[in-house]
This record gives sequence, structure tokens and C-alpha cells, in this order.
Amino acid sequence: MKKIGSQATIAIDGPAGSGKSTVARRIAERLGLLYLDSGAMYRAVTLLAIRSELAADSPELLEQVKACHIKFEDNGKTILLNAEDVSVQIRTPAVNRRVADVAKIPEIRHEIVKHQQRIGGEGSIIAEGRDLTTIVFPNADFKFYLDASVTERAKRRLAELQRQNVDITLAAVEAEISDRDEKDKTRAHSPLRAADDAIRVDTTDKTINEVVDFIIAQVCEDEIG
Ligand code: DC
Repeated sequence: MKKIGSQATIAIDGPAGSGKSTVARRIAERLGLLYLDSGAMYRAVTLLAIRSELAADSPELLEQVKACHIKFEDNGKTILLNAEDVSVQIRTPAVNRRVADVAKIPEIRHEIVKHQQRIGGEGSIIAEGRDLTTIVFPNADFKFYLDASVTERAKRRLAELQRQNVDITLAAVEAEISDRDEKDKTRAHSPLRAADDAIRVDTTDKTINEVVDFIIAQVCEDEIG
């Protein structure tokens, strides 16, 4: 029997726009778990690269990554990079375009994964990203793989960008998501894939609440059973 109250880990992986961030955030609130947005950490180090005009594979960037402090506040809503709130800056199109190239560098991943595992040791957690069920928390108590069609994922991302007044077409968002999918799934190190023991959830025709309820039902059923 797994206990959500003690030291349990729920890990969720899936491609961009599959709904995992929103779902994980809501589950964290409902079950009182720590929420770890692992993509935000790769985005933060991408911001370091952009600001310092460093190539993803440069030794200088790796040094900056090793020396930087990344901290979450407000249960994952705010991310601090060297004490600066970069929650908005990490979501810009410039970061979207560069992040997959930074995230494919094994030495950078190594640093970020160590940091994520430290956070995971702090208590019960729900963590989401691309390699949480396979590399970061291979022994997670619960594993889920969320997916949805590319068009549906692009529509969701477009709605999010329009709320931030970003002027972009559906076709451009779809192209950006497809490009990122390809990079995330085919990279040599820790590619996005569903762990063999992950429960797959197709969110294309599901609301956020339906997915949240489904995952909570799985977790609670296991806790009781
Ligand atoms: O989930 P997101 O869109 O914020 O993730 C941004 C990028 O970071 C994504 O293109 C792939 C990378 N990423 C990763 O390689 N491993 C993770 N665990 C999370 C994100």
C-alpha cells in the first residue's frame, strides 16, 4: 500500500501541451503535495544561455548551470533564478525555440536531474516533465504518461499564448510543437518516452478535471487497496 501522506512520488511525463503541468498543479493542490515543474528548470538554464549569448554545449554555460541557484516558491508557481523571479521570462517564444537544444546536453541534464532528485527527497511530490518516470524517479510510486493529438496540443498552447497577448498563428504553434516533439523524442540522452510501467492517458477529448479525477482515482485506489 502506498501512502500519499508520507513519502510518495507521482511522476508524469508527456509532450508539450499534453496538459501535464495544469493537471499536476491541480493534483498537488488537492492532495497537498509538493509540485515540481521540471521543464521550468530547463527553461531557466536556457534563459542563462540566451542572456550570456552562450552556445548550449559551451563549457561556460555548464559552469553557469553548476553555479546557479534555482528555487521554486509558492508551490511551483514562481521560479527564482539566482534570486530573480523569471517565471514570465522563461515562457517567451525565444526560450521555447532554444530550450530543446539546451535540454539535450547530457552534462546539463546531469546537473538538473541531481537537483530534481534533491527536491524529491524533501517530501511527497508530484513531478512532471519528459524523463521523470524513466530517469529522475524510476522508482516512483505512480507513473503516468499523458498525450494528445498535435493539433489539440497546439490549440491549448495557442489559447495560453493569446491570454499573454502573444501574436501567433495556430500553424506556427503546431510547427513549433512538432519540432520540439521531434527533438525531445529523438535526442540521444533521456529522450521522451513512456515508461513501461506508466499508465497512458490520452487527454485529447478530456477536460483537465477529468484527467485530474482519473489520476487521483488511480492513486487513491492503490492507497486503499
Ligand atoms: O514542459 P516544458 O514545455 O516546459 O519543457 C520545456 C523543454 O524542456 C522541453 O522541450 C523539453 C525539456 N524538458 C526535458 O528535456 N526534460 C524534462 N524533464 C522536462 C523538460
